[in-house]
Amino acid sequence: QERTFIAVKPDGVQRALVGEIIKRFEARGYKLVGLKLTVPSKALAGKHYADLKGKPFFNGLVDYMTNGKAPVVAMVWEGKDVIRQGRRMLGATNPLESAPGTIRADFCTAIGRNIIHGSDSYESALKEITLWFNENELADWVSANAEWTDADN
Ligand code: GTP
Ligand code: MG
Repeated sequence: QERTFIAVKPDGVQRALVGEIIKRFEARGYKLVGLKLTVPSKALAGKHYADLKGKPFFNGLVDYMTNGKAPVVAMVWEGKDVIRQGRRMLGATNPLESAPGTIRADFCTAIGRNIIHGSDSYESALKEITLWFNENELADWVSANAEWTDADN
């Protein structure tokens, strides 16, 4: 089954939106297979956002993620098309462009405080899950809902 890396950023934790975000993924029918509260090191955040090195906001972005004013809630979610659907549920990077009903449109206003991260491709998901989690921190379990949420026929 497809897996993606979703993280509630420190502003989302500080604003008490963790439950709301988990609720949306659960309600959609996705299965939680990894979950932890962590303050990432600068090295981890730098690797996570390696493709943005050189952007004017890069240092601010790394500080925001790592300064410990609140932790990050790192998660792995599993299910049908969860990488693309996760991105749709998050909405556009800039909340000004996020469609109403998406997480970013419903809960934030600033691109630099957009409360949640989601992997943008299969390759990113694999890279990010490996970066943030050890294999033994991921739970392989069978959801009793799977026959209702995942059937293709
Ligand atoms: P993530 O899911 O966090 O990776 O966001 P994204 O994939 O929608 O966007 P991208 O990977 O391009 O940028 C990563 C993060 O950098 C964004 O979520 C923002 O928090 C931040 N960011 C991107 N562009 C800007 C910008 O122009 N200004 C500021 N301050 N932050 C930005
Ligand atoms: Mg991104």
